[in-house]
Amino acid sequence: MRSHRCGELRSDAIGKEVALCGWVHRRRDHGGLIFIDLRDISGLAQVVFHPDNKKVFQEAKGLRGEFVLRVRGKVQRRPKGTENPNLATGEVEIVCDSFETFNPSETPPFEVEEQTTASEEVRLAYRYIDLRRENMKKNLILRHRVTQRVRNFLDREGFIDVETPILTKSTPEGARDFLVPSRLSPGTFYALPQSPQLFKQLLMVSGLDRYFQISRCFRDEDLRADRQLEFTQIDIEMSFPEEKTFFELMDRLLKDVFENASDLIGKKLDCTFQRMTYQEAIDRFGADSPDLRFGVELQDLTDLLRDCGFKAFESVASSGGRILGINAPGGVKLSGKQIEKLREEVKERGAPDIASFKYEKGELVSPFSHFFRKESLAKVQKKLGIGQHDLALIVAAKDPFNWQALGRVRDCLKEKNYLEDVLLKGKEKECRFVWIIDFPLFIRDDEGNIVSSHHPFTAPHPEDVPRLEKTGEELLAVRSRAYDLVLNGIELGSGSVRIHDRGVQEKIFEKLKLSKQEQESRFGFLLKAFQYGAPPHGGIAFGLDRLVAILVDFREEKFSDTEQATSIREVIAFPKTQKGSCPLTIAPSDVPREKLKELGLK
Ligand code: AMO
Repeated sequence: MRSHRCGELRSDAIGKEVALCGWVHRRRDHGGLIFIDLRDISGLAQVVFHPDNKKVFQEAKGLRGEFVLRVRGKVQRRPKGTENPNLATGEVEIVCDSFETFNPSETPPFEVEEQTTASEEVRLAYRYIDLRRENMKKNLILRHRVTQRVRNFLDREGFIDVETPILTKSTPEGARDFLVPSRLSPGTFYALPQSPQLFKQLLMVSGLDRYFQISRCFRDEDLRADRQLEFTQIDIEMSFPEEKTFFELMDRLLKDVFENASDLIGKKLDCTFQRMTYQEAIDRFGADSPDLRFGVELQDLTDLLRDCGFKAFESVASSGGRILGINAPGGVKLSGKQIEKLREEVKERGAPDIASFKYEKGELVSPFSHFFRKESLAKVQKKLGIGQHDLALIVAAKDPFNWQALGRVRDCLKEKNYLEDVLLKGKEKECRFVWIIDFPLFIRDDEGNIVSSHHPFTAPHPEDVPRLEKTGEELLAVRSRAYDLVLNGIELGSGSVRIHDRGVQEKIFEKLKLSKQEQESRFGFLLKAFQYGAPPHGGIAFGLDRLVAILVDFREEKFSDTEQATSIREVIAFPKTQKGSCPLTIAPSDVPREKLKELGLK
């Protein structure tokens, strides 16, 4: 049908007869000539219609944006001065001999341009047009290249791609299940997998040794920019793992993707990998997913401020709370509105407020600094290293979780770009990967119940196994063999070494208050499998959508919230809206009564 793709033509094609297929990107009439830019996936080519070719010229007058055509003609060099150095095919043009219109197009609801002001609802309703836009096309190609690279890497390392069921039983990952009624067994339901977790473990029991899958997961949870109801994981599991070799293998996988991404995103990225315990991450950065491209570490000021004269701080210190501070470099220029935003963030996380101090004439000052002893403030200034343009931000709270509040302030300073690139200056293209290890095995949920911090199949830290007999805070102190991989403050993946012993697994279920009967009905198949030679095993799942969205941010040089980070919806061909609907197909939708009846549903 065609001899070339539109974006392929270069000066070596001059004089050749070619046939191109594509969409009318733009049409211009001038100087008695008609020009169209013809677009296909590879790019644009300029086609010229001459009035001497009367019939064709006349027909070309009827061409409009997004008509889809085949054009035949001869390639010629563009006249001097009309070359377009910004276009790969900018040296040449095709003089049209003939063309045929495969299909006209109605006026599209928005222009097929790199930037669009169309709402997301409209973009998704006309996704087939939205995906014609250059950056959307690039996103899908990038995603394809990433999965190809991951597949090739894992294949070379002996991992086998296995598909696991979509109609299955609940796989708990902390979200609600999507349920599918069974017609053949009325009144019963399949669950869509929240992840292939249990099947990949069973594959290890099968002796498959190394498994992977680019797998779709389904979770009925509240949506955010980095969450969808269905999303894709790079899911990995291996037998006989050792954390060290496992991390090294995964580091190589990510290096393969990120360091070689220059051909995908047009930039060279520098990757570094390190490991840090959960506790250290919390103590230093107030977060379990710290961005290590900048410091602004939390400092414990409790002892320095125990007798500082300011009653609110003294009472926190004497009642077992903690006072934490950070140095916001260059922070004096934060506006009242920005400080107000930081205060809101802190309060949302249960801390009473945030105190800020400037540095003037060798001292820390604030509207209430007269309540403080000078020596106490001098010590704080020294410990935080507050200099002329900096701001000391201090949070005091009885609740030990006040680290979270100050950690949030740290994140906010970066995300909102309040410090005008001071934080990331020169480090934008660094990829600081960090493995966060030794997560707690259990945490308390909002209702105060003890729940798994990762999922219930995570092995406890070997040194902490005896503490599994304990309850309350002591039980909460048990560490696990779970790990997260964090990149520049974003959780990219999460995994663990698993339990492979029936007794240990039952003990964990017991701690999670699952009765014997529930254990049997929900996970009996797994417990049974553990009795047939289950090997030690472990693995991880990376969020593919997040990974690709991060690469898009690097491609488009988006490093702060002023230019919002790419949502994972931009790297998924047909995503759902924030409300979980698909404006294109109008899903979810009603079903006829008869269908419900057939499924035994009222
Ligand atoms: P986890 O639930 O942490 O672990 O998920 C792993 C990674 O998947 C991505 N992710 C999501 N991406 C988009 N939308 C969502 N709703 C969503 N939820 C999670 C994140 C996350 O880090 N079975 C375990 C893995 C294992 O233990 O091997 C699991 O699913 O990037």
